[in-house]
Amino acid sequence: MPSTMALFLVLLGTLCSFIYFFRTLTTNKNDRKLPPGPAPLPIIGNLHMLGKLPHQSLHRLAQRYGPIMLIKLGHVPTIVVSSPEAAELFLKVHDVVFASRPKVQSSDYLTCGAKGLAFTEYGSYWRTVRKWCILHLLSALKVESFAPVRKAEMVSLVESVRAMAAEGETLNLSQQVAKVVEVIMSRVIFGRCMDDEVELKPLIEETMYLAGVFNLSDYVPFLAPLDLQGIKRRLKRTSNGLHAFFDKLIDEIERESKNIEERKSYTDIFHVMVSLLNTPMNPADEENPYIIGRENIRGIMVDMVAASFDTTSTAIEWTLSELLRHPRVMAGLQQELETIVGRNRMVEESDLPKLTYLDMVIKESLRLHPVAPLLIPHESTEDITVNGHFIPKKSRIVVNVWSLGRDCTVWSDNAEEFFPERFDNSGIDLRGHDFQLIPFGAGRRGCPGMQLGLTTLRLVVAQLVHCFDWELPDALLPNELDMTEKFGLSLPRANHLFAKPAYRLVG
Ligand code: HEM
Repeated sequence: MPSTMALFLVLLGTLCSFIYFFRTLTTNKNDRKLPPGPAPLPIIGNLHMLGKLPHQSLHRLAQRYGPIMLIKLGHVPTIVVSSPEAAELFLKVHDVVFASRPKVQSSDYLTCGAKGLAFTEYGSYWRTVRKWCILHLLSALKVESFAPVRKAEMVSLVESVRAMAAEGETLNLSQQVAKVVEVIMSRVIFGRCMDDEVELKPLIEETMYLAGVFNLSDYVPFLAPLDLQGIKRRLKRTSNGLHAFFDKLIDEIERESKNIEERKSYTDIFHVMVSLLNTPMNPADEENPYIIGRENIRGIMVDMVAASFDTTSTAIEWTLSELLRHPRVMAGLQQELETIVGRNRMVEESDLPKLTYLDMVIKESLRLHPVAPLLIPHESTEDITVNGHFIPKKSRIVVNVWSLGRDCTVWSDNAEEFFPERFDNSGIDLRGHDFQLIPFGAGRRGCPGMQLGLTTLRLVVAQLVHCFDWELPDALLPNELDMTEKFGLSLPRANHLFAKPAYRLVG
């Protein structure tokens, strides 16, 4: 019986898609010129062309069809943006039209119906939550105030790696980096580390995969009940795990605060939110006060944790991988650190602004390995014509940042090469003003956690390179290091990075 039903649904869907497919082909032939792109198949559109590494497949397709390309993901028109000039049109010139997010199954489950920030549609709820998160977690002042947390965790990282170095051990650098980032971010977001808690890391990794994967149910809704990729099942399991985790923390804080006579002045965003449970998030706005409920806390926390843990550790992992593959650059960076910091002490945060070569190394790493290769999908809120191309309302916009970093017309013939010196006196910054390098996105939806992410990234890389010499295990040559990517919302290494440390500071 279920298979008869499934067959019926497939046939019905095929029929609907054929009708839809031929209707759109003809209607768009009016005077509205759609962007060029590969011909779509009925039902699935161009989904079959994405492959295992969609950013790379889209990069190749864009070389054929141009920097503003139309593909169909199921029935959803999707505009793929693949040049700096085009990115500027979508993320700056017409930013307001493209500042929304599509409604997707993953955020229904993970962030309780888009009650977080990253997957929430453009509007007053998103604006309120974003301001709130900046005030309590992400402003420059807040990031600065967490410097002692980062310092303490750096000391403990260096001590534990030093102990391993003394034993001549090979280190799983990917794991070590993920651990230190998890502890730093947990302490700034929750006011404590999660050492003794449920393993959060596997849940976050699964979240990043599920939030990034092309989910058939989002693009071919009539197939959603069949859950052909098993994504809904995994979403349920992961969101249950995450929500149970946050509920337990909320309960603990509520119990604690009942025993305290006076309300403490909390410094971390999680405690502040829980202490304001059932009160308006935005008391000044009588029309949209947004009462803080458990679902809002869960949604916002899932976003904060997912956006901060994996992104930052992935960026560190790739930078260290490139340094291991390029001993010349590693030596140059160690030389800079020796000159500015000296071999007698660890790196302090106050040293970071003076480390100009480190800055170039990190830009170069984010150029070749953008953590979010396709950003987070944007959605248009009205019909618009961009550069002569008609873009219908509710189109999905995918900016291929991975492709922007490989554009030979911008980066010259050696675009594929890791060569930090290209940034020497170039004036190109990564904060969202120079569209050839936008690893944090740009415009209204640009990353609000850039300051927190960049400070942590710079500090961890500088510390590990300054305090240790690194060697690849098993006599592996630098150019033999595997650099395979694993696609999700973030783009980590497919395989963990291993290296052997040797302590190099004096004393
Ligand atoms: C190296 C580290 C990081 C990188 C490379 C990075 C990159 C990005 C990118 C590319 C986007 C999407 C922009 C778009 O769709 O246009 C984004 C969004 C976002 N990031 Fe980050 N990020 C990093 C660290 C962080 C941290 C530490 C946080 C803190 C919690 C954070 C919070 C967010 C949030 C909340 C959004 C969604 C913003 C919105 O939709 O309004 N990120 N990030």
